[in-house]
Amino acid sequence: MTCGAVIVGAGRGERLAADVPKCLVRVEDIPLILLAAFPFQQCAEVDAVVLVAPSGSESVIASESKDLGLDKIHAVVPGGVRRQDSVENGVKNLPPAIDYALIHDGARVFIDSRSIKKVIAELAFYPAVTLAAFTGDTMHQNLNGLCQAGPARDTLIAAQTPQGFKRDLLEKALQRARDANITSTDEVSLMRQVSNVAAYPVFSDAPNVKLTYPGDMNFYQPQLSALAKQVKEFRMTMTM
Ligand code: C5P
Repeated sequence: MTCGAVIVGAGRGERLAADVPKCLVRVEDIPLILLAAFPFQQCAEVDAVVLVAPSGSESVIASESKDLGLDKIHAVVPGGVRRQDSVENGVKNLPPAIDYALIHDGARVFIDSRSIKKVIAELAFYPAVTLAAFTGDTMHQNLNGLCQAGPARDTLIAAQTPQGFKRDLLEKALQRARDANITSTDEVSLMRQVSNVAAYPVFSDAPNVKLTYPGDMNFYQPQLSALAKQVKEFRMTMTM
């Protein structure tokens, strides 16, 4: 079985309030989307990676990925208006022989190869799998600005990415959603809504934060620099 990853980074990232789209923000001159791609490059079970980048940035990102020796990157394609459109374009551009598709948020740069592997392993048993976390916070419903009764905390699962699917099922679900004009914020919801398939959660044991707010870049600066350094060291080994 072959596995491909689609890394979506075509959102504007308005909450980050940077002067470029979030995934093009650079750490030591490496754009976030290439930092996010690195653990997939390092994961032996991933055969190909498609990057979905802000329209107009594709050729720069493709050339930088070559310079960094990220040779699993098969294509860099533009995103769409909705995240779902970006996912659809990414999946369409995976090599035809790919059986499983992983979808990953380009803003989750701290994903580790071990968690990616765990998601892929479960795809042998389930058609849809997501990396997930229990919520440590108590959840309430925000009704008219007040905290009203919400679901019990121990019944909740926070879906992260990567989310993995049998590729043909995901393509079918994306097409059904398009035909029915349904929009979802992640592919696990989409699959459940249009194909009645519930995903199996794999619980992450490493932090897998989505860089979202301006303070995140400062707060995670040491970890971001360490990751950029690893990518540069990888480039050195590829050119030796
Ligand atoms: O908006 P949200 O935080 O859920 O976005 C998750 C990921 O989806 C981000 O990495 C973002 O760049 C990507 N995205 C995209 N195309 C869009 C909207 C979001 O690739 N139109």
